[in-house]
Amino acid sequence: MQLGNVKKTGGIMNKKRIAVVGFGQRGRAFVTLAMQERERVELTGICDSVPERLQSFARQQHCTAPLYTSLDKMLDETRPEGVVISVPDFQHAPVAIAAMEHGCAVLLEKPMAPTVEGCREIMRHAAKGRGALLGFVLRGHPVYRKVRELLDAGTVGQIMNIQADEELSVMHGASYMRRWHRRVANSGGFMLAKCSHDIDILSWLAGEDPCRVSSFGSLTFFTPDKLEHEFCSECPDRNCRFRFSGEMVAMNEQEAASPSRYGFDRCVYTKDKDVIDHQVVNFEYPSGVTASFSLDLFAPAARRRLKVVGSTGYIEADTRDLTVGVTFSDGREPRTFALEQENPSGHGGSDLTLFRNFIAMLDGEQSGQAGLEAGLASTVVGVAVETARREKRVVELPPSAYELN
Ligand SMILES: NC(=O)c1ccc[n+]([C@@H]2O[C@H](COP(=O)([O-])OP(=O)(O)OC[C@H]3O[C@@H](n4cnc5c(N)ncnc54)[C@H](O)[C@@H]3O)[C@@H](O)[C@H]2O)c1
Repeated sequence: MQLGNVKKTGGIMNKKRIAVVGFGQRGRAFVTLAMQERERVELTGICDSVPERLQSFARQQHCTAPLYTSLDKMLDETRPEGVVISVPDFQHAPVAIAAMEHGCAVLLEKPMAPTVEGCREIMRHAAKGRGALLGFVLRGHPVYRKVRELLDAGTVGQIMNIQADEELSVMHGASYMRRWHRRVANSGGFMLAKCSHDIDILSWLAGEDPCRVSSFGSLTFFTPDKLEHEFCSECPDRNCRFRFSGEMVAMNEQEAASPSRYGFDRCVYTKDKDVIDHQVVNFEYPSGVTASFSLDLFAPAARRRLKVVGSTGYIEADTRDLTVGVTFSDGREPRTFALEQENPSGHGGSDLTLFRNFIAMLDGEQSGQAGLEAGLASTVVGVAVETARREKRVVELPPSAYELN
């Protein structure tokens, strides 16, 4: 497993030819990483369907890579070996398939696709590409790597139960009420759109995919009865805590000058959304391990916490404090690990780890980073969670649910 410390191959390294599709929030982060890694990467092109975004963001990032609005044209003309795909979730399948058809490896953002069929469609084309990594950055996060290392060493005995949560800062949570994610059809539901990471990490730690899920959650705060004006820029309530101020959204000059035109400053109480604003999920795994997860959109800052209960003690972890602690139930002294962020990139440094693992994959190396099977599994579970929540029932996930079919 290669995750954290990426091995550099000896001798003269050929630069890997990488293109980026989708130059929004996430695409900008990948372009920055590609520019930082310029000794190992040639950024062959950037593609976005909105020409103003391309030009404006390239200017803002001092990026001179060729810019394209046509994906096929970029793939034909620049012949990348790898393509980073950071378009909205509902565009993942067509873009990934086009890249694979051109013989490229893909680094595909999470979730793999908002539907199980979309994931299977991608997998049917995988043989034409050169491999795939999913954007499940938590697998490279120092906290989760440490927890996994402790579990692999049998530190707390047999895994019995996992408790996890994600806290989103209040404006980050609110951004899901106004952007494309607010429609389940675009994202597969809040759990899949935001927490496909967490679904994946729970399975990664448990060592298996769930066989049963249940969930409760609804929209009780961002309700449309509070809507007064469709856009913040039209609204006289200057003291609204959700008033749009550009946070969480990268805008080009045109968009910044006229945010309503692009819908960025849409009121968080908008009528046309069908996502939730709080949710809990229970998972059962085939070995009998159980897990619970809860989602909080109203926190002061981003944080994930985890407690893995084993037969001889428990492990507690916190991504904000970068700490992992072990408490034993057999009288042994507790242990605490204060971890460090390995580099300044996003998600505790794991954005760079993911990107470097993609470069290494293009060099034919293996990494412990998630691939398409993990992407499919996360969408299978995320869709089941949304079904369980909506239909208020336990959803069974037999082994066949995870098959390619
Ligand atoms: N791994 C993570 O931690 C993480 C974090 C944030 C977002 N994401 C994922 O990254 C993806 C992008 O999210 P975002 O917040 O950057 O979205 P965004 O809306 O800010 O950016 C998406 C960009 O893609 C462009 N686009 C849309 N369809 C396209 C197409 N067919 N071809 C070319 N360009 C197209 C849009 O114009 C836009 O500029 C999503 O799948 C999201 O779930 C992952």
